[in-house]
Amino acid sequence: MPLASLIKMYERANKERYAIPQFNVNNLEFIQAALEVAEELKAPVILAASTSAIKYAGIEYLMAMVKTGTARMIAPVAIHLDHGAKLEDAKMCIDAGFNSVMIDASKEPLEGNIRVTKEVVAIARATGVCVEAELGRLGGIEDEVNVDASEAFLTDPAEAERFVKESGCHALAVAVGTSHGAFKFKHEPKLAMDRITDIKKRTGIALVLHGASGVGKELLDKAAKYGAQLPGAMGVPDEAYQDAVARGINKINIDTDLRLAFMGSLRETLATKPSEFDPRKLLGPAKEAVKEQMRNKIKLFGCAGKA
Ligand code: G3H
Ligand code: 13P
Ligand code: ZN
Repeated sequence: MPLASLIKMYERANKERYAIPQFNVNNLEFIQAALEVAEELKAPVILAASTSAIKYAGIEYLMAMVKTGTARMIAPVAIHLDHGAKLEDAKMCIDAGFNSVMIDASKEPLEGNIRVTKEVVAIARATGVCVEAELGRLGGIEDEVNVDASEAFLTDPAEAERFVKESGCHALAVAVGTSHGAFKFKHEPKLAMDRITDIKKRTGIALVLHGASGVGKELLDKAAKYGAQLPGAMGVPDEAYQDAVARGINKINIDTDLRLAFMGSLRETLATKPSEFDPRKLLGPAKEAVKEQMRNKIKLFGCAGKA
């Protein structure tokens, strides 16, 4: 089928309380991995490209791969701009055929964030494109620093209520203590789960968890065995996904775990097969390692069988 409306996908996810994974993609292997796993598990998925992914691969190449890959699929797939910083980024992606865009003006004061999000919503409306916005700043909650200071970055539920009403966004990324990359927590993982419940109660819309990779021990051990150096890497524990979904998260963003799986497999092949130089023999197993991560997430997020 052609691309599926993310607005509709969210309606069902919200009603049935599950989360759709966002898998960040930069190349053929990651796109194929996500589409093959979605079909295999009959699950909805969101492919996402950041502006740096677009710069790396080219927007036409990305769209051509997504269109070709989804043409004969049953499972619903959306293509989304991740962390668009400007109105122009959103326009470029909508013109290229993306059916969802994120406008991330979370660094702006509230008024400015509302204004630019509203502008994107106005452009997106005509084409049924879904708009995600962000309120609050992603970052770990560090007890020993200053609780008040670190909590000041988290999404304020009353502000979220006003933001959603005034901006008209379809989905809202909330800051509850997660952060991007492989180093999310210095000690043990800590998330402000109660905020999700409160924000959901006040807004009712699809809520999004960014910076949600698990950075699991297995991934880290395998990468370390073949030479990776990532001391202190730590991510979101599996139990937190289920709690977050039960409280109203409908989209969970995963990039780092896919990168770690890809890198770990590449390292293993290079180390154990020193005479191999066929890229397909290097990238094929790496794609399989990415697929395994994707399968795990789909099952944990409760969206297997929801196609
Ligand atoms: O939120 C950031 C995503 O992980 C994308 O990262 O800008 O390196 O493509 P990137
Ligand atoms: P991770 O770095 O935890 O995978 O988060 C990705 C993300 O939020 C992309 O928007
Ligand atoms: Zn993000």
